[in-house]
Amino acid sequence: MIPVITIDGPSGTGKGTIAARLAERLGWHTLDSGALYRVLGLAAERRGLALDDPDALATLAASLPLAFADDRLLLDGDDVTETIRTEQAGMSASRVAVHPPVRAALMDWQRQRAQPPGLVADGRDMGTVVFPRAPLKIFLDASPEVRANRRYKQLIEKGLDANLSRLIEDIRERDTADRARLAAPLCAAEDAVMVDSTALSINEVLDRVLEEVRRVF
Ligand code: C5P
Repeated sequence: MIPVITIDGPSGTGKGTIAARLAERLGWHTLDSGALYRVLGLAAERRGLALDDPDALATLAASLPLAFADDRLLLDGDDVTETIRTEQAGMSASRVAVHPPVRAALMDWQRQRAQPPGLVADGRDMGTVVFPRAPLKIFLDASPEVRANRRYKQLIEKGLDANLSRLIEDIRERDTADRARLAAPLCAAEDAVMVDSTALSINEVLDRVLEEVRRVF
């Protein structure tokens, strides 16, 4: 079986960065499943589809015109790498992600990312639903304030507008929606290793995860 490491948790915990660095260390593939939901939300908006229409969204999800060029993400041939990173795109992703038919339509595509020599997959349901038999599952968490602060710094560094109290509110709102939904809610798998990054730097989190990698593989 192809080895898979799953990293789940709420937004702003550094999952994506940890997954990318870990995959680089191991020479494995990555799956950023959040990007998939973000692209779907954007594609739906561009086509004028309602974000609460599961059937239309599932049809779109099944044939999403998505491509990867080096580290860029293309939708309909258009580079959307940065466009999908806004808070607005995160909210739209969260709205399309509640529908079971949408999640089902994206399942095979995600599982097919498990290719030799291995895969590091990050998201909300990687360890619970998409790769339930993964030998190593990490659940990464941090306080909403710390997560919002990290996001605030990223936006300011990029020269973009940011409002800290608004970010805290957005993060809490998206967390609540992701945890409360019926389909694949955000929660830790029973066999997940819990890592709280509130007081840890990215390097410290990576060291902690690498300890687990050495223990399991
Ligand atoms: O991780 P990211 O912030 O990019 O995810 C955007 C949204 O996509 C999340 O808030 C969540 O609603 C949804 N998502 C999901 N399942 C995943 C990954 C993301 O429902 N595996």
